[in-house]
Amino acid sequence: MKIVKTKQEVRDAVSAQRAEGRIIGLVPTMGALHEGHLSLVRAAVEGSDWVVVSIFVNPTQFGEGEDLDRYPRDLEGDAAKCEEIGAHLIFAPNASEMYAGDACTVVRVEGLTEKLCGACRPGHFDGVTTVVNKLLNIVQPDRAWFGRKDYQQLVVIRRMVRDLDMPVEILGGPTVRESDGLALSSRNQYLGDREREVAPKLYEALLQGAGAAREGASGSEVERIVAAKLGEEPLFELQYVQAVEPNSLRPLKSETGPMVIAAAACIGDTRLIDNVVVEE
Ligand code: PAJ
Repeated sequence: MKIVKTKQEVRDAVSAQRAEGRIIGLVPTMGALHEGHLSLVRAAVEGSDWVVVSIFVNPTQFGEGEDLDRYPRDLEGDAAKCEEIGAHLIFAPNASEMYAGDACTVVRVEGLTEKLCGACRPGHFDGVTTVVNKLLNIVQPDRAWFGRKDYQQLVVIRRMVRDLDMPVEILGGPTVRESDGLALSSRNQYLGDREREVAPKLYEALLQGAGAAREGASGSEVERIVAAKLGEEPLFELQYVQAVEPNSLRPLKSETGPMVIAAAACIGDTRLIDNVVVEE
């Protein structure tokens, strides 16, 4: 496995593989890889012939005062994990390789990005869609994998790819969790001991909401149940809980049926997001 830092090296390596008829897979990440990321790399190794993992802490998706500077970085450790799984290339550019100093083009998916996390993090999804667009243009994979942990991100990227006729298949992977239910996240390492203890309650609350949804509770009722459960834990500062239609992310309000229950909450300085999908 090779680690490269320039777009040109990626393009050269990918075209050589494509010339051999190989199906190219891409797993975009910001590094500090955990089992959630690695489950996507494994899916890519199984679902394509030649796998690129990109590792880039994308500055344009972080807001003012967010954790860009302290975001964990461990390129060597990440590379070892990817190699063990069978990835073929790591693309780890720096910010000046990715963005020209006078770059002025933004890819925006309207409507889907102003709600949920987009409401709490203005501009965040513009940063995500722009960098993912660039990564897809640089690597030109046949397939790219994203986690359902970031459910809104997955929906937004699928919509971008459909709307812009991008020749890539977007695949979603299930959320990987700790044994106590906490969704794996590079940000979990910010949690203090007591914070780590209460963090799984976010998932517990979502599961309780999902149980109610399966018994016929409406979107608003589900939201009330989840918020009430989270309200019992003073360390949580709830940003939002919303029951939405799984493809359009439209709030369900009085409707019942298939839904994604998505929530974001801060514990101290750490922002956690999670969601549960309730099928028909
Ligand atoms: P990052 O947070 O590093 O996540 C990279 C990929 O791993 C995303 O598709 C995310 O949904 C997935 N992932 C994270 N935690 C997961 C978990 N516990 N289970 C399953 N999958 C999980 O998301 C980003 O980076 C960035 O926004 C990126 C798409 C790379 C653009 O910069």
